[in-house]
Order: sequence, then C-alpha cells, then structure tokens
Amino acid sequence: MSEPTRTRRLVSPSPEETHALGVKLGELLAPGDFVGLVGELGAGKTHLVRGVAEGAGVAKSEVASPTFAIVYPYEGRIPLYHADLYRLADYEELYATGFVDMVADNDRAMLVEWLDRIPQAAPREFLRVTLRHEGEAARSLEAEAFGARPAALLESWLG
Ligand SMILES: Nc1ncnc2c1ncn2[C@@H]1O[C@H](COP(=O)(O)OP(=O)(O)OP(=O)(O)O)[C@@H](O)[C@H]1O
Ligand SMILES: [Mg+2]
Repeated sequence: MSEPTRTRRLVSPSPEETHALGVKLGELLAPGDFVGLVGELGAGKTHLVRGVAEGAGVAKSEVASPTFAIVYPYEGRIPLYHADLYRLADYEELYATGFVDMVADNDRAMLVEWLDRIPQAAPREFLRVTLRHEGEAARSLEAEAFGARPAALLESWLG
C-alpha cells in the first residue's frame, strides 16, 4: 500500500461525538466515494456508519448491521451501499457477491466495514478510517486518504 495523501487523527470521547462525526462525513459524501472502516469488534464502525447514513439523508429504519447480506443499499439524498466483509473468506467470494461491479458503477457512496479482511476490495482512491478502543467510551479515529478526491473529502471533513 502506498503512502496516504492526507492523514488526520483525533479522539472521539463518546458515542455521540462519533455519531456527529459520521453525520458530518455523510453530508459531504458523493456517489463514487469509498470509505473503508477498520477496527476490532465493537470499535464503533457501525456506529459511525449510522451517523454517515443520517448525514446522507437515509431514513433511520433503513440502517441495519449487515448480517444476512454482505452489502445493503440505502436510499437517501446520497444513495449508499453499506457492506461488511467480516464473514468473507477471500476476494473470490467477494467477487461472487457482485461487490466489485458495485464499486465500478460509482452510482452510490460505499461504506465498507472490515476492509482490512480483503484490502483488494478497495478501489485505487479511497478513504480509510481506523477506529481503536481508548478505554470504555473513547475511541481514536485515524483517517487516511488515498488519492486527490479522498484527500479533499478528508480536508472538508476533519480539516
Ligand atoms: N467513542 C465511541 N465511539 C463509538 N462507539 C462507542 C464509543 N464509546 C463507546 N462506544 C460503543 O461501542 C459500540 C460500538 O459498536 P459498533 O457496532 O459500532 O462496533 P463495530 O466496530 O461495528 O463492531 P463489529 O465489528 O462487531 O461490527 C457501541 O455500543 C457504542 O455505543
Ligand atoms: Mg459493525
């Protein structure tokens, strides 16, 4: 993996703060943006995605934790795909779900939990957000942009 174009780090002291960060990112997303989420179980990936969905104008009732399917479409002001790669074995299995075509189509913004399971799932340009436990209620957030559009997105999001 090449060096990120832009990197920002911060600590979110509460679930509410993480949600608010997600809302702000959701307001900035455009179709074709790809956001990979990395972090242990309970790190806050889905929590952040719920905020993003709200910011993108998705109805709350639409947002699930992807359990039965690998990828869920959400309709909103910005249409999204929410994917979770946790249960996938390898790239071939991912390919069989149609995920690769969804990335190529660029007609939605994509939020992909457990991207580190199958790093080849990412397109050439993307934003990677890594969440880490910092005690009971705090999480560190590291955002790394690869490419010009993701770097501009990150600058608008976190400066
Ligand atoms: N600062 C914080 N930011 C985000 N979530 C937090 C924070 N502090 C505590 N939490 C809690 O951590 C949990 C995060 O759960 P979440 O489902 O988002 O994790 P996840 O990374 O998606 O895990 P999984 O890999 O199991 O899908 C939630 O219960 C949330 O309330
Ligand atoms: Mg999750």
